[in-house]
Amino acid sequence: MTIKRSRVSSRKKKSKTSNFDKYELYSRAVQSPKNDARFFGRVYQEIRGKQASILREDFCGTGALCVEWVKLNGRHKAFGVDLDPEPLDYGRSRYVSKLTADQKKRILLDEKNVLSKDVPHADISVGLNFSYFLFKKRDDLRAYFANAHQALKSGGVAFFDVFGGSQCYDAIEDKTRHAGFTYYWEQTGFDPVSNEAQFHIHFRVGGKKIERVFSYDWRLWSIPELRELLAEAGFSKVHVYWEGTAKDGTGNGVFRRVQEGEACLSWIAYLVAEK
Ligand SMILES: C[S@@+](CC[C@H](N)C(=O)[O-])C[C@H]1O[C@@H](n2cnc3c(N)ncnc32)[C@H](O)[C@@H]1O
Repeated sequence: MTIKRSRVSSRKKKSKTSNFDKYELYSRAVQSPKNDARFFGRVYQEIRGKQASILREDFCGTGALCVEWVKLNGRHKAFGVDLDPEPLDYGRSRYVSKLTADQKKRILLDEKNVLSKDVPHADISVGLNFSYFLFKKRDDLRAYFANAHQALKSGGVAFFDVFGGSQCYDAIEDKTRHAGFTYYWEQTGFDPVSNEAQFHIHFRVGGKKIERVFSYDWRLWSIPELRELLAEAGFSKVHVYWEGTAKDGTGNGVFRRVQEGEACLSWIAYLVAEK
């Protein structure tokens, strides 16, 4: 049986960690916005035969993906949507401020609910790092997917990542060393009746473990459930892009369209939903 791990361990950047900066450590541990931006653009092009221009990042946090999207192409525009002003402010001061004047004109990080009817319309919309798992009822998740659907331009494509595998039903703590810090991903309290579980991110910096820097209370959704809900929300086709396997059995960060998955201990995939 293959053991796949999330994108979590695949990036190794160096920077100072003397001052604890939770968003920097989070980004280095779990995000790969440059690769993500290229991947979404490439898949849109494959499906539609033309380039996407506008990307909306739901649950954008610091808006790291939006920043990479506007850097990728002078025609790209990006909108980030998040409820929490703290990561938005961080993204504006740490990332957006470093963009060129032209790039700054093409990006907006907006404090807004992803369920709001007036989220900006886009060619590509994404909901990453499983953020939509916070919707625990079918009706609530369908309402979010329906809003993402109505806010896509004609021919738009939505991307949502999803994880699973037999390890998701265990209480586990995964540990990944990075230059200057260690990242921990802990899962507690899986309930097979509700399929809900709690997840925590801890960091060890300079010999001190800082617990529960980020915590999430999620329902674990399966791919068939998600495909059904996306179809009910109006999407015409939903494809599954499955992560390939590296020689050491972990995920290799390369996602390809599949008809069947693989029963790994832990896997990650993208659902690619066509309007
Ligand atoms: C797991 S973080 C994801 C951050 C980033 N997108 C990433 O890929 O790492 C979830 C984010 O969703 C935001 N959020 C939660 N509920 C939301 C809602 N209803 N509307 C907009 N943002 C929401 C939180 O403020 C938080 O920044």
